[in-house]
Amino acid sequence: MSYDSAIKALSNDALKFVKDNYVIGLGSGRAATTLVKSLSLLIKEKKYNIIGVPTSLQIKLIAQENNIPIVESDQISHIDLVFDGADQIDSQNFVIKGGGGALLRENILFSLAKKIIVMADKTKFVKNFTRTVPVEVHPLARNSVTNTIQKFGGKSTLRSLDRGYPFFTENGNIILDCDFGTIKNPKTLTQKINQIPGVMESGIFLRKPDVIYKAKTDGEFEII
Ligand code: A5P
Repeated sequence: MSYDSAIKALSNDALKFVKDNYVIGLGSGRAATTLVKSLSLLIKEKKYNIIGVPTSLQIKLIAQENNIPIVESDQISHIDLVFDGADQIDSQNFVIKGGGGALLRENILFSLAKKIIVMADKTKFVKNFTRTVPVEVHPLARNSVTNTIQKFGGKSTLRSLDRGYPFFTENGNIILDCDFGTIKNPKTLTQKINQIPGVMESGIFLRKPDVIYKAKTDGEFEII
């Protein structure tokens, strides 16, 4: 079963958390895209009055194509629910975000949300984090952050586009994908990274999701 159909199987279930008049944070990436399409059908069917708050231009365009009214996060004071994907989820239920570069706005929405629902397929679940941690950095702090990350035992790689140009986030920053090997204490590491001058956001979020959906290859899913 493909990634999309596995996520689709659970995104319909996740809609049970949606109520009329909700302000809903829309994460970025493939899982969030699948959810937005299902959410749009629910709104149409139930005639719900829902407002979506996007975490990126990517999901904003999908929401607009699917007729979901949008406001930006500086126009609202609370978010009832956030739906988002994840790049990796560890056994303590910390998540790594930022594979698509939208981590800064995703973490802002996490901080405003009453409830966070994360959806991912089973390949993303690990005991301890093993993948690189995306760190959004002001361009002028590239060398200083790289050196400090190295002192913390990490190896940074500047994220770039296919033809070698640097990748810039929607906020005009660069991303350093930082390899720390196996991460046994994500909270301490994140607190250290967040204190480096020039770091705008780190991909390990300190706020954990309230509900985690795990998609399995046979189309079934599990709620954690
Ligand atoms: C965007 O920056 C990311 O945090 C995504 O939410 C994350 O990469 C998950 O994306 P997929 O659902 O596409 O795997």
